Amino acid sequence: MHHPKLREISALIDEILGLNFPKNRWGDLERGLLSASKELGLGESIDTLAMLLADRNVDPKFLDVLANHLTVGETYFFREKHSLDVFQKQIIPELLAERFGKDQHINIWSAGCCSGEEPYTLAMLLMETIPDLSKWNISILATDLNPRFLKKAKEGIYSSWSFRETPKEVQLRYFKKVGSAGWQIDETIRKMVDFKQINLAEPDFSAQLYLYPDRDVIFCRNVLMYFSPELIRRVGLNFYDALRPQGWFITSPVELSDELFDEFSKVQYDRCIVYRKTIHKQVLHKPISHSHKAAEKRERLVFTLKARKTVADIPSKTKHSNPITGVQPYELAEHLFRKGQYAECATLCRSELLKAGQKHNWQRLLSRSFANMGQLEESLRVCHEMLNFNRLDADTYYLMATILAEKRELAEAVKVLNQGFYIDPDHLMSHLLMAGILRRMSKDTTAAIHLEKIKKILNGLDAEVILNETEGLTVGRILEMVESQFISER
Ligand SMILES: C[S@@+](CC[C@H](N)C(=O)[O-])C[C@H]1O[C@@H](n2cnc3c(N)ncnc32)[C@H](O)[C@@H]1O
Repeated sequence: MHHPKLREISALIDEILGLNFPKNRWGDLERGLLSASKELGLGESIDTLAMLLADRNVDPKFLDVLANHLTVGETYFFREKHSLDVFQKQIIPELLAERFGKDQHINIWSAGCCSGEEPYTLAMLLMETIPDLSKWNISILATDLNPRFLKKAKEGIYSSWSFRETPKEVQLRYFKKVGSAGWQIDETIRKMVDFKQINLAEPDFSAQLYLYPDRDVIFCRNVLMYFSPELIRRVGLNFYDALRPQGWFITSPVELSDELFDEFSKVQYDRCIVYRKTIHKQVLHKPISHSHKAAEKRERLVFTLKARKTVADIPSKTKHSNPITGVQPYELAEHLFRKGQYAECATLCRSELLKAGQKHNWQRLLSRSFANMGQLEESLRVCHEMLNFNRLDADTYYLMATILAEKRELAEAVKVLNQGFYIDPDHLMSHLLMAGILRRMSKDTTAAIHLEKIKKILNGLDAEVILNETEGLTVGRILEMVESQFISER
């Protein structure tokens, strides 16, 4: 049973802080309110807090405490590689070409910057990309609602968890070790970023931007997904005003919405869509600086591997999408999975499967969520259901084999992989898994046959190409893995 006033409080939190708590997150809301109430010395119930909130004339310090307890602080350096690639390989070069030798400046805003990982990533990318950076006037504004996150951002000390997507050499170049587990950001990078508290839900927050006009790029990723559609629309319009003409607005793939950001033009790159403030609205399709030949090879590979579409490739509006946000339930489920929220992902999959009956992609995601929660029997059960429905999908055999390998049922895993090879003899991940299993069974000669097969499948492909089915691994990385298996064999 929830607190009787929770519906009312949830509406107030939405109005004042912009944070949208749908009914299925009321548990989180109640827990957050309770801990805020304790911190504010208002006791073990949320009654007084509810009363003060209803008053609306709330002390900003009070709101800070609420923000501390109700916002989600999940972030890390170099998050969402595809939009960072567009920033580094398309946007920066375009700005450099336009302004080189004239008015050398670049203005960026990271809105909802959390503890600083996003704006510092942008600063590092600028540092890596612009020769003679000192001759450029760089402004990186980074804002957030939560003062605790901002304090951490200004201190610039991070644990290894923030570096889970950071190449080791980059970490060593821009951070120095402090204490037993901390890494402190380099002073030059730290000084490139200005942190400021801004509540995006405040109707007139643009007034606080007077020192930071004409932004070239606004990053606001994984922030708007917590807002109501009305607020997203309003914030989108404010971003539009804050950008200079031709400026870019970058969200995360799950936040894309044709309806809510319809004043922007959409620019579609290979693996990512960004918005742009153009005078005449248009949809632009741009390959991300790969040669024609590489693009052809990539297509061939995608075909060979029967790759799933990336989230950005999926049109954001279908008859199944939420009519207001345009976000499809499957996109949301994939997002939860990527964030490691497997229990939530599994719940969503199950409820969709109840509605839709047999649906291969939902079953697959459900099985993978179970596997990642260690519920291997459940995960296998879903695989069997998938096979009952369709015995001709090599991906299902691969998934089953990964679970069997996890359960140390190696002989059974080999059997299942061989069944998959009848359907798709070039299933790259199955060959990789098979080689690993055979090596664990000390069958190195047979393992080598599968490693050779992988080299053959990838032969001639650009090392930079990311293979969809491998969740972000590049051709080069897979070949390295193959080589290292050969080396340890010698
Ligand atoms: C999940 S983090 C995203 C951080 C970063 N942009 C990223 O993609 O890694 C969401 C951030 O949005 C901030 N936020 C939530 N509501 C906000 C609001 N009304 N105004 C400004 N920031 C807000 C939270 O405090 C949190 O730091």
